[in-house]
Amino acid sequence: MSLRCTLITLFPDMIRDVLNTSMLYRAREKGLLEAQTVNLRDFAEDRHHVADDHPYGGGAGMVLKPEPIFHALSRLKEADPDLRLILPTPQGRTFTQHAAEEMSRETRRMVFLCGHYEGVDERVRAAFHPEEYSIGDYVLTGGELASLVMIDAAVRLIPGVLGDPESARHDSFSTGLLDWPHYTRPAEFQGLSVPPVLLSGNHEAIARWRRRESLRSTLAKRPDLLGKAVLSEGDRQILEELAAENTIRRKSHESVESH
Ligand SMILES: C[S@@+](CC[C@H](N)C(=O)[O-])C[C@H]1O[C@@H](n2cnc3c(N)ncnc32)[C@H](O)[C@@H]1O
Repeated sequence: MSLRCTLITLFPDMIRDVLNTSMLYRAREKGLLEAQTVNLRDFAEDRHHVADDHPYGGGAGMVLKPEPIFHALSRLKEADPDLRLILPTPQGRTFTQHAAEEMSRETRRMVFLCGHYEGVDERVRAAFHPEEYSIGDYVLTGGELASLVMIDAAVRLIPGVLGDPESARHDSFSTGLLDWPHYTRPAEFQGLSVPPVLLSGNHEAIARWRRRESLRSTLAKRPDLLGKAVLSEGDRQILEELAAENTIRRKSHESVESH
């Protein structure tokens, strides 16, 4: 199965460089990702290939004109009537790991319409009803990076893209918890050592340590995730222990400070 993506953009070079690097490049080489860009300027009707114009009503910024977008989308829809249209926009619903998992299984061609400047002429929404996704509550210059973020997150979940599929399975959010800490050689570096259990070769003890550390990170950094995570009785017991450890640590910290 391969993910088929088309990105409509004013800046194809920005996208090509990312598609030609690292994991996305490897996925394309393996035939697991097929990605292409469509230059919006090629669909502009005037001889200067202008794809943007001033906003009606005045004010700052430019708006992507409707005609090139309508032409580009109509052409793509003619070739593939079943395509899935995605509009990256800060106004969309937040893109999550769950959305990435769902996208990684998509069999339709996904067309990402990359806005720029103030965004796209509103009539595009009215005519094509795109799915709107935001990658977070901040504003980027264009939809190119946002589209690539979504594609990257989806592609690494396609079986065969990562060298070891196990690594995606325990990534932060995939299990409902944050990932555990990772260490590599050397075992000792500048007086900092790797937790001994990881050197023990005892797989059960390592798995228990990893689960505990995942719970510890989530409790410390994203306690909001714990409410939705699937937790066993053992996990709840560990969380109680970790919360008690935190209380003891806080109290001893307070008593040191008060002396
Ligand atoms: C400068 S932004 C336009 C923002 C728009 N005026 C607004 O406030 O909703 C230009 C383009 O960048 C993309 N973009 C910016 N922030 C984004 C975000 N958080 N998520 C997804 N796309 C974003 C969208 O494609 C958008 O059309």
